[in-house]
Amino acid sequence: MTAASSIGFIPAFPARHERRLPLLQLLKTLRENAIGTYTQDAFERDIIIYRLGFKPMILANHPNLIRHVMLDNAANYERDPVGKRLLEPGLGKGLLTSEGADWKRQRRMMAPIFQPRRLAGFAAIMTEYSERLAGKLAALPATCTVDMAEQMMLLTLDIIARTMFGSDDGADVSAVGPAMDRYQATVRPNIPDLIGLPRWVPRPAAGEGQRALAEMDAIINGLIQRRRERNDLGNDLLGLLLAARDDETGAALDDREVRDQMATFFLAGHETTATALAWTWYLLSHASDVEAKLHAELDGLLGGRAATYADYERLTYTRMVLEEAMRLYPPAHTTARQAIAEDRFGEIAIPPGTMVIVSPYIMQRHRLYWRNPDVFDPENFAPERTAQRRRYTYLPFGAGPRICIGQGFAMIEAVLILATLAQKLRARLVPGTKVAPVAKITLRPSPGLPMTIQPR
Ligand code: HEM
Repeated sequence: MTAASSIGFIPAFPARHERRLPLLQLLKTLRENAIGTYTQDAFERDIIIYRLGFKPMILANHPNLIRHVMLDNAANYERDPVGKRLLEPGLGKGLLTSEGADWKRQRRMMAPIFQPRRLAGFAAIMTEYSERLAGKLAALPATCTVDMAEQMMLLTLDIIARTMFGSDDGADVSAVGPAMDRYQATVRPNIPDLIGLPRWVPRPAAGEGQRALAEMDAIINGLIQRRRERNDLGNDLLGLLLAARDDETGAALDDREVRDQMATFFLAGHETTATALAWTWYLLSHASDVEAKLHAELDGLLGGRAATYADYERLTYTRMVLEEAMRLYPPAHTTARQAIAEDRFGEIAIPPGTMVIVSPYIMQRHRLYWRNPDVFDPENFAPERTAQRRRYTYLPFGAGPRICIGQGFAMIEAVLILATLAQKLRARLVPGTKVAPVAKITLRPSPGLPMTIQPR
């Protein structure tokens, strides 16, 4: 083994600036790599008030302010309009992009779909696809290089397509993932959206996005129609959505709403989990002692057999490694809310329209809340340390009523994938490769993760 020890291992992160970038450079960097705009003091101070153009902004690094905005006074804060403008053309008014009473109704209807007894059914699909990939990768010649970031994308794409449409067969189900992926590749932050220009101002790649969207819609709508014509709705996500009823009114979702939820689950749930796993492979490649501990847990608990839903709770160290990877590289690196009415937090006045930025990337590397914040150390998530940690300092899935509805799904998926693959193989970054986190929609490793595979 050639991997370096993890003691003091500081994985890649972009340089932090001494002072704020000038406006044009700031907008350009925001578009190219949002986390490349941060100043050093963002990782040291708890509340920073500033302006972006005419817009009042607050960077909330204080756990109580985060709690105030995301939970206690959440009704006064809507999801940030920039993100919504970017996502609405594809996601319509699904759970991620709706507000108020409409969001509440949808959340109520979706909650039962993500309950543990449902997730147990999806776990078998997760393991099956992971086993298949593990076999394929372990059989590669030692000199062959694979991009593990891309492999994780393809794997979570297969898994989400199967969990969404698993009780259908045929070409449409195989085509839906790639079509959604092509659309997603066109959803990138752009300057007209960042500064809030109206819809008629042309966006880069808009035509390409429209074509990919039309293709994706045709496939999803066809699948919805076919399913409605069947007697049995099925136990996949589509079947569960069609069967969902509002317990207050008894109403079902209409076709448009079902389509919007499907697109939302796909967009919110596939790249995020894949990037969490990609960073985990990058970190393990540099930390042979962490990897050895992970292997010891897997060998002791599974001893070569396939991991199941029942193993999830027991794979404690596997989970700690993933949680630490998501601390250093939170796939959803930034969330934001906009104040609807005037508000106050202690001495601080929050006028309507103020944008409050809550950045898991900053909070999870903040000097006030973490010891050696830039060092890779899964012991941060040992049960004693987790119990002592201040709330709202670790937020990979957000917080409050709009916390990620797919959190349980994502954690089970990531743990089962990591356990299955790490039982069978080690992945090593090709020596000399420089990897950097680049924040677009998710925080991805750039230029990818060229790795060689060693079977175990
Ligand atoms: C590691 C994987 C994932 C991460 C890091 C992640 C992260 C997040 C975060 C931070 C939010 C809150 C955003 C905000 O408050 O502005 C969120 C919301 C959401 N996530 Fe996830 N997510 C992941 C996986 C999933 C999966 C697998 C699904 C579905 C299958 C999913 C579906 C959603 C939905 C629908 C929302 C909106 C919830 C609402 O507004 O009520 N996510 N996610």
